[in-house]
Amino acid sequence: MKHLTKMLDLTKPDIVKILDLADSMKAEHKLGKASKPLEGKTLAMIFQKASTRTRVSFETGMYQLGGQALFLSASDLQMGRGEPMEDTARVLGRYVDGIMIRTFAQQDVEDLAKWSGIPVINGLTDYDHPCQILADLMTIREHKGQLEGLKLTYIGDGNNICNSLIIGCLTMGMRISVATPKGHEPHQDALDFARKFSDTFELVQDPAQAAINADVLVTDVWASMGQEAEAVARMKTFKDYQINDALLSKANPGAIVLHCLPAHRGEEITAEIFEKHANVIFDEAENRLHAQKAVMALLMK
Ligand code: CP
Ligand code: NVA
Repeated sequence: MKHLTKMLDLTKPDIVKILDLADSMKAEHKLGKASKPLEGKTLAMIFQKASTRTRVSFETGMYQLGGQALFLSASDLQMGRGEPMEDTARVLGRYVDGIMIRTFAQQDVEDLAKWSGIPVINGLTDYDHPCQILADLMTIREHKGQLEGLKLTYIGDGNNICNSLIIGCLTMGMRISVATPKGHEPHQDALDFARKFSDTFELVQDPAQAAINADVLVTDVWASMGQEAEAVARMKTFKDYQINDALLSKANPGAIVLHCLPAHRGEEITAEIFEKHANVIFDEAENRLHAQKAVMALLMK
């Protein structure tokens, strides 16, 4: 593993290694005994979209590992004035030890990885959000004790979160049912990957059908960053794709609910369900920190 450009980069042993290290880093951090494997190292963080969790968890994570992080807003970089990615990549590669990027096009991440000569981490693209799904898997393992054999249901848009969940869950031996409205299905790459898992993958349009016997329910916003102009139309399309009491009644008793955040109460999740499951949802947000520290330590040490 040289980079984390997308969920498809990761094998099952890679994910197990990251999650085991993340668990031990979390435990050591709580005991105040954490080591600093990235002393003297710098992570450049390029942001072309807004962020709360990704920015703060990478920056804090790098500090906890003994290194430092640079917040680089794409609009302040020469990149924002048209400097090509391959030049930005080669320059950053001479200064820093790793790059995290949040952007629109997956190709930007691939170009950075190709040209920089240093590890590159995808901090969200329109296509993928691997760091989020590593934290999700860590959280499921923490609360359910295992991944293998569990059923996860994803309700809503076939977006970055959905693509990454399909690949992550199937890689880890979980079952996954996805319910999306017609025309909002996951990316073809995720569907192609899922074709090898006909017994453990299901794509339907009916949320209630997808939720039957779920151990974990996941949803995400109806309009992602960059889709603001479609937000009103999407409200109509997605109105039945909500995690609410009726949907949870289809799931297994003790089912947990995850949300990558930010959440829109009254849209993809009701306020009641959100608050009832807030404990797990904020564990999930916390686990971004430790999962990403594990990724950075493995890639940048
Ligand atoms: N879940 C997530 O990536 O949050 P931010 O957009 O706040 O980084
Ligand atoms: N699908 C959302 C995830 C935000 C963390 C987006 O891309 O905006």
